Amino acid sequence: MPDKDHNSQLEELIRQRIRTEGPMPFAEYMGLCLYHPEHGYYMTPRRRIGKQGDFYTSSSVHGMFGRLLTRQLVQAWQLLGSGAMTVAEQGAGEGHLALDILDCLRDEYPDCYAAVDYALVEVGPEHRRRQRELLAAHADRVRWCELDELSGMTGVILSNELVDAFPVHLVEKSDGSLREIHVGVEDDRLVEVVGQPSTGRIQAHIDWLGAGPLEGSRGEVNLAAVDWMRKVAQVLESGLVLTIDYGYPTEELYAPHRRRGTLLCYHRHRSHEDVFAHIGCQDMTSHVDFGALIRAGEEEGLETLWFGEQYRFLMALGFVEELMRLQALETDPVRAQALRLTLKNLILPEGGMGETFKVLVQGKGLGPVELACQRPISAIEIG
Ligand SMILES: C[S@@+](CC[C@H](N)C(=O)[O-])C[C@H]1O[C@@H](n2cnc3c(N)ncnc32)[C@H](O)[C@@H]1O
Repeated sequence: MPDKDHNSQLEELIRQRIRTEGPMPFAEYMGLCLYHPEHGYYMTPRRRIGKQGDFYTSSSVHGMFGRLLTRQLVQAWQLLGSGAMTVAEQGAGEGHLALDILDCLRDEYPDCYAAVDYALVEVGPEHRRRQRELLAAHADRVRWCELDELSGMTGVILSNELVDAFPVHLVEKSDGSLREIHVGVEDDRLVEVVGQPSTGRIQAHIDWLGAGPLEGSRGEVNLAAVDWMRKVAQVLESGLVLTIDYGYPTEELYAPHRRRGTLLCYHRHRSHEDVFAHIGCQDMTSHVDFGALIRAGEEEGLETLWFGEQYRFLMALGFVEELMRLQALETDPVRAQALRLTLKNLILPEGGMGETFKVLVQGKGLGPVELACQRPISAIEIG
């Protein structure tokens, strides 16, 4: 029986490649662990998200996340003239967010629902299959495609926890020079090997940002995130880019107290730093450098409209009002209490998703706008 907690075929394949070609940059190793077409974590059938998986996402916590987000999408639709609009969601996982958004549009904003073409951009065949199943009731509104195919689109490009799943280069600074972590083989075991940077793009990225790991520290350089942001900006003709993920502005990401960077692995709801454990069967992620996304977006013509914590975003879109509405519908006090605790998870700063999670809203071709998510929290009435 194949081991669900470790893919030894993938490990052997990686070992073989290192034996013939030499140590590989960590980014290549992470790319194989997550996206090897046959054995990668995101490419094989397994439960990844939710209680039976390895981690929770906001959309797997409660449908309210998607309902609130829908309000921002509807406002974008109005700002764009209430005509045909594409909502492109990249990395939709099992499709819960898409379902919550489409249900909410159909039930509460039927004119917008009729105008929306929901395009899913998804690399994992298993996730594509689950999305197709889950979204069957909206079959005439959804489609699957590549990001390139959306060139010239009007609408919103949306992602939740996509960018943290991109393979990153791992670097460290010692004695004033930049080193890159590679993966080698020693006595048949995979081990870290510290070597020269595998590409000049790493130093160029640090120079471009004016920040990187400090002396004696380790950190990640997410070149794929910058490439993605540039591509997104080029594809969007007019509308919004809404990127939700855990992360920091650049200077916070490389702050002196973060000496070991932010790379983490998730397996059955346990987070740890052992990148050689559970090969192909655990998630590997790093915190997103929002400073780099903002800068790359601006260089490609995106305006930074809003950047802040997820709790602010959700509060502005009506979290409190929605919580009270749902509570009022719940007659059983035990279930009402459970609901409150579940929903609080979306906004709690510590142990919850409220603060580490950030939302970046960028725009193109909209002119000066005041977005629904910019409503000051002080304006919210708690009854
Ligand atoms: C952590 S999951 C996202 C969870 C989901 N958005 C949610 O709210 O539950 C990451 C997703 O991104 C997908 N993914 C990773 N890289 C991708 C890429 N370059 N293009 C499209 N999808 C990608 C993975 O297959 C997976 O579906």
